[in-house]
Amino acid sequence: MSATPKTQPKTFHVKSFGCQMNVYDGDRMAELMAAQGMVATDDANAADLVVLNTCHIREKATEKVFSDIGRLRKHGQNPMIAVAGCVAQAEGEEIVRRAKVDVVVGPQAYHNLPDLVAKAASGASAVDTDMPVASKFGALPARRRVPPSAFLTVQEGCDKFCTYCVVPYTRGAEVSRPFDAIIDEAKSLVDAGAREITLLGQNVNAWDDDAGTGLHGLIRALDRIDGLARIRYTTSHPNDMKDGLIRAHAEVEKLMPFLHLPVQAGNDRILKAMNRSHSRDSYLRILDRVREARPDIALSGDFIVGFPGETEAEFADTLSLVDAVGYAQCFSFKYSPRPGTPAAEMDGAVAPEAMDDRLQRLQAALNRDQAAFNAATVGKSCTLLIERKGKLPGQMLGKSPWLQSVHLMTDAQIGDLVEVEIVQAGPNSLAGVAKVKAAA
Ligand code: 5AD
Ligand code: SF4
Repeated sequence: MSATPKTQPKTFHVKSFGCQMNVYDGDRMAELMAAQGMVATDDANAADLVVLNTCHIREKATEKVFSDIGRLRKHGQNPMIAVAGCVAQAEGEEIVRRAKVDVVVGPQAYHNLPDLVAKAASGASAVDTDMPVASKFGALPARRRVPPSAFLTVQEGCDKFCTYCVVPYTRGAEVSRPFDAIIDEAKSLVDAGAREITLLGQNVNAWDDDAGTGLHGLIRALDRIDGLARIRYTTSHPNDMKDGLIRAHAEVEKLMPFLHLPVQAGNDRILKAMNRSHSRDSYLRILDRVREARPDIALSGDFIVGFPGETEAEFADTLSLVDAVGYAQCFSFKYSPRPGTPAAEMDGAVAPEAMDDRLQRLQAALNRDQAAFNAATVGKSCTLLIERKGKLPGQMLGKSPWLQSVHLMTDAQIGDLVEVEIVQAGPNSLAGVAKVKAAA
């Protein structure tokens, strides 16, 4: 399949695009290859094997993959190229046909990557976009070096079928990993140095098991792990925001005061056309209950502007929803038609200029609210989890409970929890002054 014959690679480089779940998958693929004796390299052009862990959620993702492949062929060592992730799942055959890559592996099959690489090295075709019922997780090696803030995938896939979205097609139906497997992985992450765990899933708050434990029950079990200081979860769907989870925000101290709850739009007709199955009002009522449980919670969301048929008045409803909520931070995107999704067939494409204008106005409102949220934390005391070194000597960067980046001068080390007072707020980062070192 490849342009030239290949041998078994000795070095590899993984490049992940897109969401945190892809970052998690990319790390797991790197661990798999390291367990086979291959050595990681930071320089894609110096690697024998390059894994492009792709994202398909928005525009130009596929084109980006093809231009990356072109660049690697020009500047690299004629590496073996593996395309993984959602573009591989959605367009595997097209990629093989157009770019003659060596390996194509979907997000549910990447535990087979070493076998596929060996197959490609022997000149055989190496494509695996199966979605097996048995989980890939059992076939992955144990985690080794982990950062203080680690990801843990607990749920994958989506049954919601929002009309604009490829995820139900590329990641498959909603599947929850078993409770015991998650607790074991969490304990091994903590043993390897994690102080904070972010539970990941396309619909993480739909996580459940046969006992009906629910995400809140899982969070309460994680709360009992010694050495784990903080718990987060992302991404949630409004319809799965159950009472128990909202209560956990009031009662579980390790659960950080942050909620990412995408709404996408503020107008009911558009929400219906998106098949979101919640209304503007039901979404706002959920946020009221969350705020009642945890008054200082930082709220986050995702927005799409320019969905087919969106009028100026309907877009104004998105702006008024933003005003009503006062988000701490958000992601916002221009609608992009995804092949195979119902919205891609809808009439009423919004003109590119209107799309740009709406995104600009939305982002101005979101930036205003983010600055206001950050400014309101000045003078507050909180605990930071130190994640990395800052640019200046003696400076470290950490995250506040509200997921803000805070820099401070300290002799604390990566992984320490430090009590600080926030003394200054910029649009994207804050400054803190260390108080006393918190007990580990
Ligand atoms: N066009 C634009 N944005 C999209 N998203 C998902 N699909 C599309 C699309 N076709 C956004 C949604 C989602 C986030 C992960 O990406 O806001 O919540
Ligand atoms: Fe996509 Fe909607 Fe599922 Fe989120 S809930 S992954 S936007 S289909």
